[in-house]
Amino acid sequence: MKIVQIGIGGWGKNHIRILSQLGVLSAICDIDSQNCKEYGKKYVVNHYESLEKLLDFEEFDGAIITTPTSTHTDIATKLLNAKKHVFLEKPITYKSEDGEKLTKLAEKKKVILTCGYIERFNPAVDVVKKIVNEGKFGNLVMLEFHRENRIPLHIKDVGIIYDTSVHDIDTANWLFGDMPHVVFARAGKIKHEHEDFASIMLGYKDDRVAIISSNWITPKKIRKFNAVCTDAIISSDFLTQEIIIEKSDESETIQNKKQEPLLLEIQSFLESIENKSQLVVKPQEAVNVTKIAEAALLSSQKGIPIYLDLK
Ligand SMILES: NC(=O)c1ccc[n+]([C@@H]2O[C@H](COP(=O)([O-])OP(=O)(O)OC[C@H]3O[C@@H](n4cnc5c(N)ncnc54)[C@H](O)[C@@H]3O)[C@@H](O)[C@H]2O)c1
Repeated sequence: MKIVQIGIGGWGKNHIRILSQLGVLSAICDIDSQNCKEYGKKYVVNHYESLEKLLDFEEFDGAIITTPTSTHTDIATKLLNAKKHVFLEKPITYKSEDGEKLTKLAEKKKVILTCGYIERFNPAVDVVKKIVNEGKFGNLVMLEFHRENRIPLHIKDVGIIYDTSVHDIDTANWLFGDMPHVVFARAGKIKHEHEDFASIMLGYKDDRVAIISSNWITPKKIRKFNAVCTDAIISSDFLTQEIIIEKSDESETIQNKKQEPLLLEIQSFLESIENKSQLVVKPQEAVNVTKIAEAALLSSQKGIPIYLDLK
């Protein structure tokens, strides 16, 4: 199996490390020539400063794309047309209609297309999903997410909803096993070019709800969520991967063996290419997350709820 890595910025460096560790990294590509040379040398792989050259000269099975969101559609279209399996970092595309086109193209070319909704591979989310599905603590009524951290001004192409809240939108859909039919959001900006704080409410069937709070302002890194069930509140931390279950006056703590979600995510991509396991993040699910993000942004601009009818 030969995988190439496109985009070696803040996040792509983690992908390269893991691809190399797994022995599948065959080449890298980045328009930043210094970056490209440095990492090509460090990992002893071919390096290309353009996608066209990579496609002309390198033989490979799949690609991981970790370039800015605004470049995803163009790069993924070229790779899918060349019949390569594609892992696109989140959000799949900036416009949901472009994501729909990529989904159809991947089907036509009979290759895998997936998106980096990494929290699905977080062992804590996995355990909470199992507990909720067993129904041991009654029905899941509400989900609450907090994802907060002061971040520098380097993300220029999108605001917090497309960059950060999308993780929790996807996790909410995953834990409920459903898509929301209504979205209401408030958002604003303090320091960044686009919105840098947002509160989003997603309405699912039977009045169930997910409340998502994200901000790039406050100085502490927090990534937590609560699954409110009829007989207990299950709280977890995406970072420590610890889970606490609170009933009336007892509480139980579950600490799994901590695992790196990115390693599990990449292994899962490789296994789906080899047909050893089912694709976890289906492209249509990732497109739906973008549609929900679009609705959240629109809702925050217009001050009204936006109704959706998602596949
Ligand atoms: N899953 C996660 O938790 C997570 C975390 C961070 C970022 N991301 C996603 O990863 C992607 C990249 O984010 P980042 O923070 O690493 O960005 P970044 O700006 O730090 O890095 C992007 C890299 O892509 C390169 N690049 C830009 N256009 C290119 C092109 N056309 N061809 C080849 N290389 C190109 C740049 O030179 C740069 O090295 C975004 O989609 C972001 O949303 C995901």
